[in-house]
Amino acid sequence: MHSNSRFITSNQTGIHDQLHDLLKRRAGSDYQKPIASSSRIAFDIAVTAWNNSNTLDLIIDAGCGVGLSTRRLALQNPNHFIIGIDQSSDRLSRQIDWSGDVPDNFITVRADLVDFWRLLHEAAIYPSHHYLLYPNPWPKKHHLSRRWHAHPIFPTVLALGGQIECRSNWKTYVDEFATAVTTLTGVTAQCENYQPTSELLTPFEEKYLASGHALWRCQLTLPATEHF
Ligand SMILES: C[S@@+](CC[C@H](N)C(=O)[O-])C[C@H]1O[C@@H](n2cnc3c(N)ncnc32)[C@H](O)[C@@H]1O
Repeated sequence: MHSNSRFITSNQTGIHDQLHDLLKRRAGSDYQKPIASSSRIAFDIAVTAWNNSNTLDLIIDAGCGVGLSTRRLALQNPNHFIIGIDQSSDRLSRQIDWSGDVPDNFITVRADLVDFWRLLHEAAIYPSHHYLLYPNPWPKKHHLSRRWHAHPIFPTVLALGGQIECRSNWKTYVDEFATAVTTLTGVTAQCENYQPTSELLTPFEEKYLASGHALWRCQLTLPATEHF
């Protein structure tokens, strides 16, 4: 495991001064970008695999990278089906060193999350758990709207409900995530220091810990709803 991951540097100190205005400006407006047909195909494949499994509840691993966390979540949650989604076919096709049986209660698919989340919501499919593990931080100040909590898709992500967890090695990302959750839903959410006591979930988590980075997370439960 690499132990030389660089600490995040940013020209932003603390929560972005434009975050509140951005969230307020967008309130009540739906995200209109057309959904790619490739995302629809990936969505159908994933939902069919879930329907063909003997599991009722669904866990989403959003931005699963190589899919190691998807497999580990599948082993940890044998009564759930796990869908890992990533846009990178390169990452998804990498061989994963895996000792023991590969669990059968998971699938990884290549799709744009911005489409996949809307397809879940349109189909009224509400995951019991939803992980956003080490999303790209986009730490430059002018990249605010690329962070998931500042993206116009975020109200749809929250409307899917369930137990939502975001982890990052950049505290500001998780502070902003929690602020955006509270602003959009009225539900109190907080950033906390995360010190894993059980199995590490993702390669990025392993890499950051080996490099001496602190980890942060925001965890909360929301009801599924039409809109936030
Ligand atoms: C920093 S990596 C973290 C990967 C994994 N969760 C981990 O912790 O090892 C972020 C991942 O999000 C994926 N990603 C970013 N934007 C995406 C999008 N719009 N749709 C799907 N995947 C996306 C990237 O391809 C990348 O694999």
